[in-house]
Amino acid sequence: MFASVRVLVLLCLGLLLKVAGVPAPTIEVIGALDGLSEDDIIDALDLGLVQNISVLITLESVLTNLMTIDFTAENTLILEMTLDTVSCSAGVNDTVFASFSQTFDPPVVIPTLGTADSGPIDNVDMVQGILGTLSIIPLEELDILDMNITIRVASIGGVGGIPLALNGLMQSDVPTKYTVETLSF
Ligand SMILES: *[C@@H]1O[C@H](CO)[C@@H](O)[C@H](O)[C@H]1NC(C)=O
Ligand SMILES: *[C@@H]1O[C@H](CO)[C@@H](O)[C@H](O)[C@H]1NC(C)=O
Ligand SMILES: *[C@@H]1O[C@H](CO)[C@@H](O)[C@H](O)[C@H]1NC(C)=O
Repeated sequence: MFASVRVLVLLCLGLLLKVAGVPAPTIEVIGALDGLSEDDIIDALDLGLVQNISVLITLESVLTNLMTIDFTAENTLILEMTLDTVSCSAGVNDTVFASFSQTFDPPVVIPTLGTADSGPIDNVDMVQGILGTLSIIPLEELDILDMNITIRVASIGGVGGIPLALNGLMQSDVPTKYTVETLSF
């Protein structure tokens, strides 16, 4: 059991490093993989952490230059993963349109082979202003240009686990839905 935890931590690192465009480290199989084949591992490495993004632009955003983001995080490991912090720049064509840092309290617990909602992240800076942000709505996707996260792998119900800090993660073309609040009469 302990050996397979070590394998899966390597797998998790490989997943996130590959997302960052850095070649994944060689996966050394230390022990039993609990039914995972090498192909399963390679498939897991090709998936990203952020499955989709929802953006909310309110009437207040005009004044504050801030919006709210919510994302679905996916865990392709057969161990629970808990997300403690995220710091992220996202945008289009290498131009940053959204930037935020969030400490999750309570942390986001992503079950084994499951997904979890980040909950609303307020105070997302509209780096290109509201007009810039409105102009990219029709694309319905955002690239994660730079993301730093702290996670705990093999947590139990969000408690404990092996802490990992990963910097420089990237992901292309994450499906993004926008909701723009308008005045209604
Ligand atoms: C994001 O993905 C989750 C899990 O697949 C799904 O339940 C949710 O509806 C999706 N949200 C959007 C905005 O597409
Ligand atoms: C991620 O961390 C690096 C190194 O500490 C830092 O230079 C970068 O600005 C951070 N990125 C974000 C989006 O916070
Ligand atoms: C992104 O780059 C492509 C190719 O250069 C260009 O066609 C597209 O208009 C750009 N999109 C934005 C939103 O800047």
